[in-house]
Amino acid sequence: MVKNLKNKNIVFIGFMGVGKGTIARALIKKTKCFGLDTDDLIESMENRKIKEIFATDGEAYFRKLEKKTAKWLQKSVKNAIISTGGGFFKVDNLDHIGTIIYLRSSFEGILKRLKEHEKADLKLAKRPLLTDEAKAKALFEERSGLYEARADIIIDVENRTIEEITRDLMNTLNLKEKKEKE
Ligand code: S3P
Repeated sequence: MVKNLKNKNIVFIGFMGVGKGTIARALIKKTKCFGLDTDDLIESMENRKIKEIFATDGEAYFRKLEKKTAKWLQKSVKNAIISTGGGFFKVDNLDHIGTIIYLRSSFEGILKRLKEHEKADLKLAKRPLLTDEAKAKALFEERSGLYEARADIIIDVENRTIEEITRDLMNTLNLKEKKEKE
C-alpha cells in the first residue's frame, strides 16, 4: 500500500487504448478528485486535435508540447488524477509530477478492447500511431519494459472490469471513497 502520494498527484501511464482515461474517470468519480488528461490539455492549448497536430507539425512538435505540459503539471498541479498519452511517460520530470501507475495489458488485449468499443472507428482514427497495426505492435514491444521501469506501481488490467481495477487502485493507493453532500 502507498502511504504518501508524490506531489499528491496520481499519474496513469500505459499504451494507447489500454484504458488510462476510462480508469482515471472511474477513479475521479469515486474519490471526487479533480482530473486532467495530457492529450486534452495539449488539444486545448493548441485549439486543434492531436491527429491534426501530428499531420501538420509532426510527432517531434507534439513531443515538445508534452514536455511543456509536464513542466506545467509539476509546477502547478496538486491533488489531481492525471491520465496521459501513451508516449508521455518519456518526459524527464515524470517522477516529479506524481505517483506513477502503469496500466498493463498485452497488445492483443488492447486491440480487443478497442475493436469491441461501440465507437471503435473513432478510437482508432484519432490515434495516428495506431493506424498501422504492425508498427503499433513494434512500438508496444519497444515500450513495454520502459513503462515498467518508469512505474511506481503496476496494475494489470486485462480481463478485469473497471470496477475491479478501481477497487484495486483505491486499496493500493489508500484512497477514500467520497460521497458528495448535497
Ligand atoms: C500517443 C498516444 C496518444 C496520443 C498521441 C501519441 C503515443 O494518446 O498522445 O497520439 O505516443 O502512444 P493515448 O495513449 O490516449 O491514445
